[in-house]
Amino acid sequence: MAKVTRTPLISGNWKMHHNHFEAIQTIQKLAYLLHKDDLEAVDVSVHPPFTDLRSVQTVLEADDIQIALGAQHCHFEEKGAFTGEVSPAFLAKLNVSYVIVGHSERREIFGESDELVNAKVKAILKWGMTPILCCGETLDEREAGATEEKVAGQVRAGLAGVTAEQVGALVIAYEPIWAIGTGRTASAEDAQAVCAFVRATVADVASADAAASVRIQYGGSVKPGNAVELMSQPDIDGALVGGASLVAEDFAGIVQFPSQRA
Ligand code: 13P
Repeated sequence: MAKVTRTPLISGNWKMHHNHFEAIQTIQKLAYLLHKDDLEAVDVSVHPPFTDLRSVQTVLEADDIQIALGAQHCHFEEKGAFTGEVSPAFLAKLNVSYVIVGHSERREIFGESDELVNAKVKAILKWGMTPILCCGETLDEREAGATEEKVAGQVRAGLAGVTAEQVGALVIAYEPIWAIGTGRTASAEDAQAVCAFVRATVADVASADAAASVRIQYGGSVKPGNAVELMSQPDIDGALVGGASLVAEDFAGIVQFPSQRA
Protein backbone atom coordinates (compact mmCIF):
# COMPACT_ATOMS: atom_id res chain seq x y z
CA MET A 1 0.00 0.00 0.00
CA ALA A 2 1.36 3.42 -0.96
CA LYS A 3 2.56 5.54 1.98
CA VAL A 4 0.56 8.74 2.33
CA THR A 5 0.13 11.25 5.11
CA ARG A 6 -3.43 11.55 6.30
CA THR A 7 -4.24 14.79 8.11
CA PRO A 8 -6.43 13.87 11.10
CA LEU A 9 -10.01 15.14 10.97
CA ILE A 10 -11.67 15.96 14.28
CA SER A 11 -15.42 16.43 13.83
CA GLY A 12 -17.94 17.64 16.37
CA ASN A 13 -21.41 16.17 15.87
CA TRP A 14 -23.70 18.35 17.95
CA LYS A 15 -26.73 16.13 17.26
CA MET A 16 -29.96 17.87 18.42
CA HIS A 17 -28.20 20.23 20.82
CA HIS A 18 -27.55 24.00 20.79
CA ASN A 19 -30.00 26.49 19.29
CA HIS A 20 -28.46 29.08 16.96
CA PHE A 21 -27.56 31.47 19.80
CA GLU A 22 -25.79 28.72 21.73
CA ALA A 23 -24.12 27.60 18.51
CA ILE A 24 -22.68 31.07 17.91
CA GLN A 25 -21.37 31.23 21.50
CA THR A 26 -19.81 27.77 21.23
CA ILE A 27 -18.06 28.45 17.95
CA GLN A 28 -16.75 31.81 19.16
CA LYS A 29 -15.40 30.22 22.32
CA LEU A 30 -13.82 27.44 20.30
CA ALA A 31 -12.15 29.92 17.98
CA TYR A 32 -10.76 31.74 21.03
CA LEU A 33 -9.39 28.54 22.57
CA LEU A 34 -7.79 27.15 19.42
CA HIS A 35 -4.58 28.62 18.11
CA LYS A 36 -3.32 28.85 14.55
CA ASP A 37 -0.89 25.97 15.19
CA ASP A 38 -3.71 23.73 16.44
CA LEU A 39 -5.69 24.29 13.26
CA GLU A 40 -2.65 23.68 11.08
CA ALA A 41 -1.94 20.29 12.66
CA VAL A 42 -5.42 18.86 12.14
CA ASP A 43 -8.60 19.47 10.14
CA VAL A 44 -11.63 20.35 12.24
CA SER A 45 -15.33 20.34 11.39
CA VAL A 46 -18.44 21.19 13.39
CA HIS A 47 -21.86 19.73 12.56
CA PRO A 48 -24.61 21.86 14.12
CA PRO A 49 -28.36 21.29 13.63
CA PHE A 50 -29.77 22.62 10.34
CA THR A 51 -31.29 25.71 11.97
CA ASP A 52 -27.82 26.81 13.14
CA LEU A 53 -25.91 26.33 9.90
CA ARG A 54 -26.32 29.82 8.47
CA SER A 55 -25.37 31.48 11.78
CA VAL A 56 -22.28 29.32 12.24
CA GLN A 57 -21.26 29.82 8.61
CA THR A 58 -21.44 33.59 9.08
CA VAL A 59 -19.21 33.52 12.17
CA LEU A 60 -16.66 31.17 10.58
CA GLU A 61 -16.41 33.23 7.41
CA ALA A 62 -16.52 36.70 9.01
CA ASP A 63 -13.69 35.84 11.38
CA ASP A 64 -11.82 33.61 8.89
CA ILE A 65 -11.83 30.71 11.36
CA GLN A 66 -10.19 27.60 9.92
CA ILE A 67 -12.94 25.24 11.02
CA ALA A 68 -15.03 23.54 8.34
CA LEU A 69 -18.80 23.66 8.42
CA GLY A 70 -20.51 20.28 8.48
CA ALA A 71 -24.06 18.92 8.40
CA GLN A 72 -25.52 15.88 10.15
CA HIS A 73 -27.47 14.46 7.22
CA CYS A 74 -29.36 15.42 4.06
CA HIS A 75 -31.71 14.07 1.43
CA PHE A 76 -30.34 12.55 -1.77
CA GLU A 77 -32.51 14.51 -4.21
CA GLU A 78 -31.81 18.10 -5.21
CA LYS A 79 -35.44 19.21 -4.75
CA GLY A 80 -38.97 17.88 -4.60
CA ALA A 81 -41.92 16.91 -2.45
CA PHE A 82 -39.97 15.66 0.58
CA THR A 83 -41.53 17.50 3.51
CA GLY A 84 -39.06 18.22 6.27
CA GLU A 85 -35.99 17.15 4.32
CA VAL A 86 -32.95 19.23 3.36
CA SER A 87 -31.36 19.19 -0.09
CA PRO A 88 -27.61 18.60 -0.49
CA ALA A 89 -27.68 21.54 -2.90
CA PHE A 90 -28.83 23.82 -0.07
CA LEU A 91 -25.98 22.61 2.11
CA ALA A 92 -23.45 23.19 -0.66
CA LYS A 93 -24.80 26.75 -1.01
CA LEU A 94 -23.96 27.34 2.68
CA ASN A 95 -20.37 26.23 2.04
CA VAL A 96 -20.86 23.01 3.98
CA SER A 97 -17.77 20.85 3.49
CA TYR A 98 -18.60 17.59 5.28
CA VAL A 99 -21.89 15.74 5.67
CA ILE A 100 -22.33 12.86 8.13
CA VAL A 101 -24.23 10.02 6.49
CA GLY A 102 -25.56 6.80 7.95
CA HIS A 103 -25.03 7.74 11.58
CA SER A 104 -26.27 4.88 13.75
CA GLU A 105 -28.96 7.18 15.21
CA ARG A 106 -30.31 7.78 11.68
CA ARG A 107 -30.13 4.09 10.89
CA GLU A 108 -31.61 2.81 14.16
CA ILE A 109 -34.15 5.50 15.07
CA PHE A 110 -35.17 6.69 11.59
CA GLY A 111 -34.76 3.44 9.71
CA GLU A 112 -32.18 4.53 7.14
CA SER A 113 -31.19 1.56 5.01
CA ASP A 114 -27.83 0.84 3.41
CA GLU A 115 -29.38 1.69 0.02
CA LEU A 116 -30.55 5.09 1.25
CA VAL A 117 -27.13 5.75 2.78
CA ASN A 118 -25.48 4.88 -0.54
CA ALA A 119 -27.79 7.26 -2.45
CA LYS A 120 -26.88 10.02 0.01
CA VAL A 121 -23.13 9.34 -0.28
CA LYS A 122 -23.42 9.79 -4.06
CA ALA A 123 -25.53 12.96 -3.71
CA ILE A 124 -23.08 14.52 -1.25
CA LEU A 125 -20.21 13.82 -3.65
CA LYS A 126 -22.21 15.16 -6.59
CA TRP A 127 -22.62 18.47 -4.79
CA GLY A 128 -18.88 18.72 -4.11
CA MET A 129 -19.00 17.91 -0.39
CA THR A 130 -17.25 15.15 1.55
CA PRO A 131 -19.31 12.35 3.10
CA ILE A 132 -18.44 11.05 6.56
CA LEU A 133 -19.86 7.55 6.18
CA CYS A 134 -20.64 5.94 9.55
CA CYS A 135 -20.50 2.27 10.40
CA GLY A 136 -20.51 0.29 13.64
CA GLU A 137 -21.93 -2.67 15.47
CA THR A 138 -24.39 -3.05 18.36
CA LEU A 139 -23.33 -4.67 21.62
CA ASP A 140 -25.22 -7.86 20.69
CA GLU A 141 -23.43 -8.03 17.35
CA ARG A 142 -20.10 -7.48 19.02
CA GLU A 143 -20.72 -10.22 21.57
CA ALA A 144 -21.83 -12.57 18.81
CA GLY A 145 -18.51 -11.97 17.02
CA ALA A 146 -20.29 -10.25 14.12
CA THR A 147 -18.49 -6.88 14.20
CA GLU A 148 -16.54 -7.41 10.98
CA GLU A 149 -19.54 -8.74 9.08
CA LYS A 150 -21.66 -5.74 10.09
CA VAL A 151 -19.02 -3.12 9.41
CA ALA A 152 -17.89 -4.63 6.09
CA GLY A 153 -21.52 -4.84 4.94
CA GLN A 154 -22.14 -1.17 5.75
CA VAL A 155 -18.92 -0.02 4.10
CA ARG A 156 -19.48 -2.10 0.95
CA ALA A 157 -23.09 -1.01 0.57
CA GLY A 158 -22.35 2.63 1.41
CA LEU A 159 -19.61 2.86 -1.21
CA ALA A 160 -21.30 0.88 -4.00
CA GLY A 161 -20.87 2.61 -7.33
CA VAL A 162 -18.48 5.24 -5.96
CA THR A 163 -15.18 5.56 -7.88
CA ALA A 164 -11.93 4.54 -6.19
CA GLU A 165 -10.70 8.11 -6.49
CA GLN A 166 -13.79 9.43 -4.69
CA VAL A 167 -13.47 6.76 -2.00
CA GLY A 168 -9.88 7.79 -1.36
CA ALA A 169 -10.97 11.37 -0.65
CA LEU A 170 -13.86 10.66 1.71
CA VAL A 171 -14.10 9.87 5.40
CA ILE A 172 -15.38 6.77 7.18
CA ALA A 173 -16.30 6.91 10.86
CA TYR A 174 -16.20 3.71 12.86
CA GLU A 175 -18.61 4.23 15.76
CA PRO A 176 -19.41 1.14 17.82
CA ILE A 177 -23.00 1.78 18.89
CA TRP A 178 -22.43 0.55 22.44
CA ALA A 179 -19.77 3.25 22.92
CA ILE A 180 -21.93 6.19 21.78
CA GLY A 181 -22.97 8.47 24.62
CA THR A 182 -22.37 5.72 27.15
CA GLY A 183 -18.99 6.74 28.51
CA ARG A 184 -17.73 3.34 27.33
CA THR A 185 -14.94 3.66 24.79
CA ALA A 186 -13.54 0.87 22.67
CA SER A 187 -10.00 0.19 23.86
CA ALA A 188 -7.44 1.80 21.58
CA GLU A 189 -6.38 -1.69 20.56
CA ASP A 190 -9.92 -2.79 19.62
CA ALA A 191 -10.67 0.47 17.82
CA GLN A 192 -7.42 0.16 15.87
CA ALA A 193 -8.23 -3.43 14.89
CA VAL A 194 -11.65 -2.50 13.47
CA CYS A 195 -10.30 0.61 11.73
CA ALA A 196 -7.56 -1.51 10.11
CA PHE A 197 -10.27 -3.93 9.02
CA VAL A 198 -12.28 -1.04 7.52
CA ARG A 199 -9.18 0.05 5.59
CA ALA A 200 -8.67 -3.49 4.28
CA THR A 201 -12.33 -3.54 3.21
CA VAL A 202 -11.80 -0.26 1.31
CA ALA A 203 -8.77 -1.81 -0.44
CA ASP A 204 -11.05 -4.62 -1.54
CA VAL A 205 -14.03 -2.54 -2.68
CA ALA A 206 -12.05 0.38 -4.18
CA SER A 207 -8.24 0.16 -4.49
CA ALA A 208 -5.03 0.03 -2.48
CA ASP A 209 -4.48 3.73 -3.16
CA ALA A 210 -7.98 4.59 -1.95
CA ALA A 211 -7.38 2.56 1.23
CA ALA A 212 -4.10 4.36 1.83
CA SER A 213 -5.67 7.81 1.60
CA VAL A 214 -9.21 7.35 3.02
CA ARG A 215 -9.48 8.87 6.49
CA ILE A 216 -11.00 6.68 9.17
CA GLN A 217 -12.32 8.30 12.32
CA TYR A 218 -13.16 6.59 15.58
CA GLY A 219 -16.28 7.75 17.43
CA GLY A 220 -17.83 6.77 20.75
CA SER A 221 -17.18 8.62 24.02
CA VAL A 222 -14.03 10.36 22.79
CA LYS A 223 -12.86 12.82 25.48
CA PRO A 224 -9.76 14.97 26.01
CA GLY A 225 -8.44 12.24 28.33
CA ASN A 226 -8.54 9.39 25.80
CA ALA A 227 -7.97 11.26 22.52
CA VAL A 228 -4.18 11.00 22.49
CA GLU A 229 -4.15 7.23 22.87
CA LEU A 230 -6.89 6.68 20.28
CA MET A 231 -5.37 9.12 17.77
CA SER A 232 -1.95 7.48 18.12
CA GLN A 233 -3.20 4.29 16.48
CA PRO A 234 -1.90 3.86 12.92
CA ASP A 235 -5.32 3.37 11.29
CA ILE A 236 -7.24 5.99 13.29
CA ASP A 237 -7.16 9.32 11.46
CA GLY A 238 -9.36 11.42 13.67
CA ALA A 239 -12.49 11.39 15.77
CA LEU A 240 -16.22 11.91 15.41
CA VAL A 241 -17.14 13.44 18.74
CA GLY A 242 -20.63 13.80 20.18
CA GLY A 243 -21.08 14.87 23.81
CA ALA A 244 -17.62 16.34 24.31
CA SER A 245 -17.98 18.53 21.22
CA LEU A 246 -20.79 20.53 22.85
CA VAL A 247 -18.43 22.06 25.38
CA ALA A 248 -15.83 24.28 23.72
CA GLU A 249 -13.11 23.51 26.31
CA ASP A 250 -13.54 19.76 25.90
CA PHE A 251 -13.65 19.84 22.12
CA ALA A 252 -10.59 22.12 22.03
CA GLY A 253 -8.80 19.64 24.31
CA ILE A 254 -9.46 16.86 21.78
CA VAL A 255 -8.45 18.99 18.77
CA GLN A 256 -5.20 19.81 20.57
CA PHE A 257 -4.18 16.15 20.94
CA PRO A 258 -1.01 16.54 18.80
CA SER A 259 0.48 19.08 21.24
CA GLN A 260 -0.43 16.88 24.21
CA ARG A 261 1.36 13.97 22.57
CA ALA A 262 4.54 16.00 22.01
P1 13P B 1 -20.40 10.51 21.93
O1 13P B 1 -19.06 11.14 21.71
O2 13P B 1 -21.34 11.35 22.74
O3 13P B 1 -20.27 9.11 22.42
O4 13P B 1 -21.11 10.42 20.48
C1 13P B 1 -20.43 9.82 19.44
C2 13P B 1 -21.18 10.07 18.19
O5 13P B 1 -22.22 9.48 17.95
C3 13P B 1 -20.66 11.06 17.27
O6 13P B 1 -21.31 10.99 16.04
